[in-house]
Amino acid sequence: METPIMSVPLSPQSAARLAAHDQGHLLRCLSGAGPGYAESLESLDPALLASLFKGEGLASPPDLTSLEPPPVVPAGADAAARAAGEKALRAGQVAVVLVAGGQGTRLGSDQPKGCFPVGPVSGATLYQIHAGKVLALGRKYGNTPVFLIMTSAATDAATRDFFREHGHFGLNPEDVWFFRQGEMPAVDRQTGRILLEEPGKLFTAPDGHGGCLAALSRQGWLDKLAARGVSDLFYFQVDNPLVAIGDPVFIGRHVLAGSQATSKVIYRRDASEKLGVFALSRGRCHIVEYSDLPGDMGTATTAGGTLLFGAGNPAIHLFSVRFLARAAAGDSLMPYHAAFKKVPFWSVETGHVRPETENAVKFEKFMFDVLPHAEPWLLVETPRDDEFAPLKNARDADSPEEVRAAQSRLAARWLAKAGIRVPVDAAGHPAAPLEISPLAALESADLDASRLNRNDWSVPLFLGPDGYWKESR
Ligand code: UD1
Repeated sequence: METPIMSVPLSPQSAARLAAHDQGHLLRCLSGAGPGYAESLESLDPALLASLFKGEGLASPPDLTSLEPPPVVPAGADAAARAAGEKALRAGQVAVVLVAGGQGTRLGSDQPKGCFPVGPVSGATLYQIHAGKVLALGRKYGNTPVFLIMTSAATDAATRDFFREHGHFGLNPEDVWFFRQGEMPAVDRQTGRILLEEPGKLFTAPDGHGGCLAALSRQGWLDKLAARGVSDLFYFQVDNPLVAIGDPVFIGRHVLAGSQATSKVIYRRDASEKLGVFALSRGRCHIVEYSDLPGDMGTATTAGGTLLFGAGNPAIHLFSVRFLARAAAGDSLMPYHAAFKKVPFWSVETGHVRPETENAVKFEKFMFDVLPHAEPWLLVETPRDDEFAPLKNARDADSPEEVRAAQSRLAARWLAKAGIRVPVDAAGHPAAPLEISPLAALESADLDASRLNRNDWSVPLFLGPDGYWKESR
């Protein structure tokens, strides 16, 4: 192997460690690289990458022969749970965490997904809608939950700037806690060698939303939450504007059951839907990702003709802070998942290369891999139309148009409950876009029918925080 010319300090131990794990190519561009490069090499764990490349420490689906459909509490009113949840919210026992470190590449945008406008009338962004719900919870229950936002190297600066430029959407900046997840290098699919993005720069990607656990714990956020008297953390993904953040009935069920991890369930539309699936294995709750489901398990039906493993994952969880602290102490037990991806790279031999096929392996942790460690745990159904309309793709399924239409339909159902029927088209959907700001109502019962005194429901309408209807943007 060529002897590297060291223009920046790299400890001999690190250099030897890299060479011992067949990563000596990384040393060849030390010369001329900035000091950040040597630092990134120091912090690499080549032994971990080598074992992941060999398949050791990767997630394996639970023993498929032991899998059963899990018990799920059906959706519906529960006065005792609501009272317990509202009490927890008033006491400030619940914080919320948004995972927003993903790069949204499927949407074709280089901005964080949270900056995408999805409000059907107002054009509000996902971040504005989520922050509005947190603010509204504070107004309703007299105690604003701490709002934790997990970013990644790719989304951190843009997300913080966006919140600052928008005055944190009315929230006290001290109650919005940004934290950054870790990064993992990608390796060449054939050789296991770590890829360089350019000379003197490793190619890295966010370490998966499961990186949330290590980041929350190692950066001290779990301790800070506990010190503030927060016992439970409401977890959700950036892409779903319908999520009922801080749903008091959900919180109450979790509290009354003494649950360590409570998850919402939506039933899969059909066997081809790309959702994680809840399954019971030896008494523990698992989520098996759609891509890992063996064909017959994904399509098996009950005698009644419904999917046997029908309980889908909308990625809405409530975790006890103590449980997370315990799980974080054993974080190395959280497995990595490997995915083959196309990664543009640079090497001394080839220069810059834009591969046509998947040339690299990326490693990610998934937050739902903590679920099997929870005992007791609980699954609660939520109606899909009320709480799940994720923005995933630029067009067709889960596109901005679908996400906006789902919000209009939900607004129409809330209005119907308040005694107002809006004009509908041939498909029974609202004839014009409708939007209810979270600051006007967090749930249908918050709508005050006496305020909804207008006649013209056939134009785009927005019910804003001031209680007045405004037409169009
Ligand atoms: C995810 C779930 C799937 C669930 C579906 C519901 C996984 C592996 N699968 O699928 O079970 O049914 O959502 O919509 O999660 N994120 C980070 N950091 C990362 C990677 C992702 O914060 O390193 C965040 C994203 O910003 C997003 C969320 O995690 O908020 C989900 O990521 P995404 O890649 O969109 O998951 P899906 O494959 O759609």
